Formats: sequence, structure tokens, C-alpha cells
Amino acid sequence: MINDIVKVLISKEEITKKVNELGALISKDYKGKNPLLICILKGSCIFFADLVRAVKIPLEIDFLAVSSYGASATTTGEVKVVKDLDKSIDGRHVIIVEDIVDTGLTLNFIKQMLMRRNTLSTKICTLLDKPSRRKLQISPDYTGFEVENHFLVGYGLDYAEKYRNLPDVCILKPEIYQ
Ligand code: IMP
Repeated sequence: MINDIVKVLISKEEITKKVNELGALISKDYKGKNPLLICILKGSCIFFADLVRAVKIPLEIDFLAVSSYGASATTTGEVKVVKDLDKSIDGRHVIIVEDIVDTGLTLNFIKQMLMRRNTLSTKICTLLDKPSRRKLQISPDYTGFEVENHFLVGYGLDYAEKYRNLPDVCILKPEIYQ
């Protein structure tokens, strides 16, 4: 796997520090609110597992799996719900936890869908943000790192289901996905 990588962009130590900062912020902002943190499968599963343990107030978790139609390295905005939430989110403070916001099409679809279910609030926490690629005006409420336009793998992020288990966020060699 390591031969397919240009370099480590964000090390596991930097990620840990940032996840702890995000956890502290969420703990402060949601004190007394019992937020529901929603993991968007599969990419955010590793970030999610670390983030929920960095939040020091009571919370609940749920999982949503979506798949986008179209080419594997880009999204088209057409999103299909593969696994829906287990419970109603009516009247809940919801935080959507994503691995990366790229064009914003996936997250826009998810946010609109969840808001239609009468949440009290719906915010977004993403580990990575690629603002230069945005096609829709959507800004995460909590962001770990803003990144340039590289294709990234590791710490949950994949290419064709590979590389999710790399501990750092790495830049994939362009010849692998082009
Ligand atoms: P968007 O709808 O274009 O914002 O795409 C978001 C989704 O595309 C993410 O949840 C990832 O699954 C995938 N994605 C976007 N950029 C990358 C990347 O650099 N590496 C791995 N997956 C990515």
C-alpha cells in the first residue's frame, strides 16, 4: 500500500491533536443538549470512533450509509441511502460527521434530508475540507483541516475500498486513480 502513496499529508499525531480540539469544542457547544452524532459510512468510521471518545458530555450515535452514483473518484450529486438511521431524529440536536467535504453535493443531500425530519438543529463536523472543489455553498460548522485538491486516502478514506486502514491521511499517486 505504501508504494501507492506520494507522501503523508497529515500524520496520526496531528490528527489526534485536532480530534481532541474538535471534541472539546463540541463538548462546550452541546452541554446539556444530548446531541446525536451521525456517522456517514464508510469513510468517516475511524474519525467518528475517535471523535465520540473525545467528546466529554452525554451523546448518542447512529449510522447512515449513502452511495453516490457515477465515477468512483468524483461524485455526481445523485445520492442513494443504503442504510438509514435506526431511530427518529425529530426534535434532536444532530451533528453529521463526515470524512471529507469535496464538491459538497453529498453533504447537501444528507443535510436537506435530515432537516426534513424536524431536527432541532443540524450541524456538520468534517475532518477534511477541500473548499476549492465546492460546487454548492455549504460550509461545515466544525472542520479539522482545510486541504488542497489532492486525492487523499487513509484514516478511513479509500480509493476503490483500499487504504482505509492507513493510520495517516496520505496523498495517493495520481497514476493509481487516473
Ligand atoms: P462530495 O459530494 O463531492 O463533497 O464528496 C464527498 C465524498 O466523496 C466523501 O465523503 C468521500 O467519500 C469522497 N471523496 C471526496 N474526496 C475524496 C478524497 O480525496 N479521497 C477519498 N474520498 C473522497
